[in-house]
Amino acid sequence: MIDRIRDARRAYRRGLVYPAAMLTLGAAAIHFSVAPDHLEEFPPFGILFLVIGVLQLALVALLVMLPGRRVFATAMAVAVACLFVWAVSRTVGLPVGPNPGQPEALSLADALTSAFEVLSLLLFILLLRSSPPRSKRRWWLAGTVPAGVLLTIATVIGIVAGVNPLPYAVNMGSAAPGKASVTMADLKEPAGRQPEKDFTLTAQVAHISIFGGQEAWTYNGTVPGPELRVKQGDRLRVTLINHLPASTSIHWHGLRLPNADDGVAGITQDAVPPGGQYTYDFVVKDAGTYWYHSHQDTEDQVPLGLYGALVVEPAQGPAYDRDYTVLQGDANRTRPIQLDAKPGELVRLRAISAFMEDMNGTPELLTLLGAPYRVIALDGHDLNGPTEMGVELLPVGTGQRYDLAFRVPASGRVRLLDVRPQTGSAEPARDWASLGEGALPQLNTGMPVFDRSKPLGYVSRSLATFDPTSYGLAAPDPVAARGRYDVRSDLVITNQPGLRYGSRLDRIPLKLIHMFNGKSFPDTVPISVREGQYVRLRLVNQTDEYHPIHLHGHVFSVISRNGRPLTGSPIHLDSILVGPHETWEGAFLADNPGLWMLHCHVLIHAAFGLSTMVSYEGIATPYVIGSKSGNFPE
Ligand code: C2O
Ligand code: CU
Ligand code: CU
Repeated sequence: MIDRIRDARRAYRRGLVYPAAMLTLGAAAIHFSVAPDHLEEFPPFGILFLVIGVLQLALVALLVMLPGRRVFATAMAVAVACLFVWAVSRTVGLPVGPNPGQPEALSLADALTSAFEVLSLLLFILLLRSSPPRSKRRWWLAGTVPAGVLLTIATVIGIVAGVNPLPYAVNMGSAAPGKASVTMADLKEPAGRQPEKDFTLTAQVAHISIFGGQEAWTYNGTVPGPELRVKQGDRLRVTLINHLPASTSIHWHGLRLPNADDGVAGITQDAVPPGGQYTYDFVVKDAGTYWYHSHQDTEDQVPLGLYGALVVEPAQGPAYDRDYTVLQGDANRTRPIQLDAKPGELVRLRAISAFMEDMNGTPELLTLLGAPYRVIALDGHDLNGPTEMGVELLPVGTGQRYDLAFRVPASGRVRLLDVRPQTGSAEPARDWASLGEGALPQLNTGMPVFDRSKPLGYVSRSLATFDPTSYGLAAPDPVAARGRYDVRSDLVITNQPGLRYGSRLDRIPLKLIHMFNGKSFPDTVPISVREGQYVRLRLVNQTDEYHPIHLHGHVFSVISRNGRPLTGSPIHLDSILVGPHETWEGAFLADNPGLWMLHCHVLIHAAFGLSTMVSYEGIATPYVIGSKSGNFPE
C-alpha cells in the first residue's frame, strides 16, 4: 500500500517536474538566442539575458536530479522575476536601457518565453502544494511526451525568432577601418548653370475615389503623384514636405544621379520625419521614362499611393504629336485613362508598372490593340531599329517601363489592356488606357490563364510573348561585348519559409524568406566595386516566381538570357525581369561612386529579404537601418 502511494506520488511529481523543466529549458534557450542582439543594442541587457539563461539551465539540472521544494520555490521566484521585468518593459518601459521609460514592442520570442514562464509557474505552484491524487493512474506521465514535443517546437520557433530580430542599427557603409574613406553625404551634384526645374511634393493623407474612399498616401493629394516633366540636362530640385503620420523619402527610380540624392532611407539619408522636409537636387543626365516613389517602408508606402511618373524629354529627338504616360498598379488602385488623340497622329505612350500585390511577381502582360506599334524604349533607354509589331504580350515587370509608338488609326480607338491572369493573390488592372474616339477594339483571342505547372506561370494559346532579347537591330554595345570584366558576381535567388524580423509582432513574422546566395537583407553580401571597373552579374532564379532585379544609380547592358546572347537591339535596363528558373546576365560600368541598392522590385520579395548592395570601396554613410533610426528601406 505504502509502495503504491509512493509510486503514484513519484509519477505525479515526474509528470509535473519534467514539463516544468522543459519549459524552463525552453525559456533559457530563447534567452540565449536573443542575447547577441541585446549585447549590441544595450550590453547590460545582453549580459542579463545570459545570466538568466545560465541560472535557468542550472535550475533545469536541479529539477531533474534533485527535485525538492527548495528548488521548486527558487525556480518559481526566477520565473516571477522574469515575468515582472518583462511586463514592466512591455507596458510602462524600464527605467534603464536603450530607450528608458519607453515600452518595448512585443516580439514572438519574448511572447513565447513569457508563455513558458507562466506555464512553469503554474506547475511549480502545483508541485509546492504537493498533494498527489488518490488514483495511481499515470496519465500525468503520459502527458509529458506530447507536451515535450509541443514545447520543443515552440522553443525552436522562439529561438529562430530570437536569432532573426528586427535589425537595430545596421550601417551599410563600405569604409574599412584605418583606410581612407569618403562619406556618401559628399557625393552630391556640384553647382552648375543648368536650367533649374523646381517642384514641391507634399506627402499627405487623402481620401480618394480609386481607393474606394479609403485612406491613400499621396503626393500633392493625387495617386499617382503629379507627373514631373523635365528636359535632359535640367537641374531638378524637388522639395519633399512630409505631412504623413510616418517618416518617408523619395527615390528617383532608374536615374543615374549622385548617391546623396538617391533617397534610400538608412543608406543615403534619414527618412524625413512627420513635419519635416528635404530637398533633392541633381542634374538629369538621361532622357526617358522614369518614376519616383518612397524608399522608406517601401512595401507599405508605395501601394498606399506614394509614386509618380518622371519623364525626361530628350534634348533632341523625333517629335511626337502626343506624348502620354500611363502609370498603373494593381486593379484596386487604378482606373482606366481616356486620352485625346486624332486619326493619323503619332503617339508615344509610356507605360510604367508601379507595383503589384501579387506574390508571384507575374509581370503585367500588356497588349496594345487597334494599331500596329513599335517598342521604342525599355526602362527609358531607346532600342535600336525597333520593328513594327502586332498584338503580342508585353511582359512588364514591376518597376519596368515600356515606351510604345504608333499612329492613331483612321477610325476606332487604340486600347492598352493588361491581360495578366489573376493568380489568386491579386487582381491585375484590366484597362490601362484608351486613345482617340470610336469603337474600343476587343481582344478576340481570349485571355491568357494562369497555370502553375507552366514555367512562365501563364499560358496563352494564341498570343506570342514579346522577347526583348531578339527584337530590333543589332548594334555595338561595348559594355555587353567586353570579354573581360573586373568583377563577376553570381546572384542566386531562392526562397524558403522562415521567420523574418521575428522580433516584430505587428506583422506575421513567418514569411517566404527570399535570398540572394542564401542570405536575406541586410545580411546579404554586398557586391564590392571600384570606380572604373566593369562588372558582370549573373542573375540565377531558382524559384517559381518572377523577379525584376533593379539596380540603383546604374544601367545594365543585357548580355544574355538563359545563356543565349542578344540577337536584336542592345538592351539597357535598370530592372531585369528574371522569369521562373531563368538566368540573365548583365553588365555595367561602375562610374557612379556610392552605396547603391540592388533588389527585387516585387516589393513583397524585397521586404522578405531579396535585396543587396553594390558598394564602392571606401564609402562611409552616417545613416543606419533598423529600429534605432526607424529607417527601413524595404
Ligand atoms: Cu524603384 Cu530601390 O527602387
Ligand atoms: Cu531605383
Ligand atoms: Cu522578386
